[in-house]
Amino acid sequence: MHTILVLGGYGFFGSRICQALSSYDEIHILIGGRNLFKAQESAINLGLKSDQGIAIDAHASNLVQRLVELHVDTVIHTAGPFQGQDYAVAQASISAGANYIDLADGRDFVGGIEQLDTFAREKGVLVTSGASSLPALSSAVIDRYQHRFSRLESIRHGIGSGARAPGLATMLGVFGYCGKPFLRLQAGKWQTTYGWLDILRYRFPPPVGARFMGSCDVPDLILFPRRYPNVHTVTFHAGFASAPGHLFVWAASQLVRLGLLPSLIPLVIPLHTLSQWIEPLISDKGAMFVSIEGIGIDGQPLSLDWHLIAQKNHGPYIPCGASIALAKKLAHGEKLPVGAMPCMGLLSVEDYLAALKDFNVHEIPP
Ligand SMILES: NC(=O)c1ccc[n+]([C@@H]2O[C@H](COP(=O)([O-])OP(=O)(O)OC[C@H]3O[C@@H](n4cnc5c(N)ncnc54)[C@H](OP(=O)(O)O)[C@@H]3O)[C@@H](O)[C@H]2O)c1
Repeated sequence: MHTILVLGGYGFFGSRICQALSSYDEIHILIGGRNLFKAQESAINLGLKSDQGIAIDAHASNLVQRLVELHVDTVIHTAGPFQGQDYAVAQASISAGANYIDLADGRDFVGGIEQLDTFAREKGVLVTSGASSLPALSSAVIDRYQHRFSRLESIRHGIGSGARAPGLATMLGVFGYCGKPFLRLQAGKWQTTYGWLDILRYRFPPPVGARFMGSCDVPDLILFPRRYPNVHTVTFHAGFASAPGHLFVWAASQLVRLGLLPSLIPLVIPLHTLSQWIEPLISDKGAMFVSIEGIGIDGQPLSLDWHLIAQKNHGPYIPCGASIALAKKLAHGEKLPVGAMPCMGLLSVEDYLAALKDFNVHEIPP
């Protein structure tokens, strides 16, 4: 049995990861969070033993000892927000001889994980950050089509969510940079853009249709120029299914940009509550696009558009695909690299989507 501790295991994404992994015979799942009652209740709801729900603080000083006592083979860390977090959980996992996978979406956090590479290699474990839609799935899509280009020049991608709002950690991460400046590579120059601004309207294939989207500060903005050295443009946008909701946050982000509001963080809890009330009125469909451009192998300009469509509010399973796929590979004893790395090159699109086969999620290749 391969013991997997999911930190944040009863959270929005953590609970979906635990649900998907709980049915595997080779995996002994532990659902971790700071609230013992919620952890045990989640375990029972998944048909597990109540003691598979445990109280554990990701930032406790005795984390290494707890991981050793619990015989944890792999930690899946979903207890964000990751923006501003240090690598204490990853370091504790390595010290305890456990693999480490996180769902981080903080650019510096994912971009800096390689500093643990030597330590992870010494202990013979896999440490990977950003095991989620970004950069695991986004990079897998680009890797799949890269051979069709002699020169890949531009990567524009984005996610339009469905009605179901993510958990507080995700909203805190995103709302923390709304209206705040950050850099992205455009036409070969690092240029300043602002969170949730740079508004555009992207037309997804049916049944999703057009969505407003705003620019987001994500790991791909620094990882892709390193991984695909000829690219001169990398952008990422995200948007809500509700156009009025999207435009409200866009307008509030303008106030932050102008210095009239310090931050949108105080809006997180009221908007999270509101989004749950209005969920039945909003589209249950979400989608992701990856558009890549450059020069094809025939020397002619080439552009490819890849889409992923989720219906019936199954979009929230998409960010869970990477950790589910990696956990299964580790539990089956499949050979994976040791060391510490952003989650790129570890999974193919096929691996990723296989982990989502039970859900209403399908790709539309170019
Ligand atoms: N890279 C990507 O593409 C991508 C996409 C989506 C989401 N994400 C990431 O996924 C993360 C999780 O999001 P979510 O929506 O699932 O958030 P969530 O619903 O708020 O869940 C966070 C969970 O972590 C637990 N937690 C918080 N602090 C903890 C601590 N110190 N020790 C142990 N458990 C702790 C919380 O429970 P208690 O407070 O009761 O302990 C909660 O169960 C976010 O940070 C986001 O960055 C990444």
